[in-house]
Amino acid sequence: MATNQFRVWDIYTRLFHWLLVIGIGYQYYSAKISNTSIDNHALVGYGLLGLIIWRVLWGFVGPNPVRFSHFVPSPKNLFRYVRTQPKPIYASHNPLGAFAVLLFLLMIALQSISGLFMTDDILFSGVLYGWLDDSINNAIQWFHNNSFNGLIALITIHVIAVIVHAKTSEPYIIKAMFHGKKPQHNYAVSHTLKLHLTCALCIVISALKVYLLVNHIPDWLGIEPEDLFDF
Ligand code: HEM
Ligand code: HEM
Repeated sequence: MATNQFRVWDIYTRLFHWLLVIGIGYQYYSAKISNTSIDNHALVGYGLLGLIIWRVLWGFVGPNPVRFSHFVPSPKNLFRYVRTQPKPIYASHNPLGAFAVLLFLLMIALQSISGLFMTDDILFSGVLYGWLDDSINNAIQWFHNNSFNGLIALITIHVIAVIVHAKTSEPYIIKAMFHGKKPQHNYAVSHTLKLHLTCALCIVISALKVYLLVNHIPDWLGIEPEDLFDF
């Protein structure tokens, strides 16, 4: 490894990223290819929702490079970045990348939440299935079945953009999502006890939110449980 490398991505952000990749891959496999384990599809969906909630919290209390306040640009800065040539190099996400990150978080959250309204018409019904009028429920199911195409489009653009950056201006960008380090930036994120404890707290809060959503909110809404998961 070259000298003068500084940690930009903390271990938890990297884990988040690769768990997201595995989770989305599994969702595609379980719903489109294997078609056998819809219970597992739902469980992994809850996990993905938990990951997204965690990342949103991390975006407020995590280390500087992964904070929204640090990398989300104003519209003016976004347009300036789009027009500027050659493009400046950022330690964290560049303004266009930041836009993609927000879109990822929103789309995966919506995909997971809409899953709660799904049924496979055989044995499985999501915990919010039957809560809303049929017409609204059907629209949400349509969304769940089709919005994944949008996600695939975004993933394709994301991977192409990453590869183009790796081939042109930032050859270290992909490895940095594994070991966390980029050369010559003004960051040196440390894995301090405070960072670990803050992350643990974010994990507890996000797990609790998913647990409540799956196990208690349907009761509070008066939905007859058809196939609740009891953790
Ligand atoms: C299901 C597929 C994928 C999804 C949903 C996804 C999602 C994301 C998200 C949400 C981030 C922001 C990370 C954060 O700030 O928390 C990100 C960053 C990143 N992803 Fe992916 N990703 C996917 C696949 C890949 C693949 C296959 C690669 C490698 C070729 C990759 C390389 C990267 C890199 C290098 C960054 C950091 C970009 C930068 O330095 O600004 N991703 N991805
Ligand atoms: C990010 C999370 C999720 C992703 C990416 C995802 C993706 C998908 C995809 C691609 C399909 C197939 C659509 C088609 O047939 O063309 C599907 C179907 C389905 N999903 Fe999800 N899903 C997620 C979360 C959930 C959750 C949390 C639940 C339930 C709690 C769920 C329940 C279902 C059901 C019941 C089906 C229909 C399966 C069938 O027709 O047999 N999904 N999902």
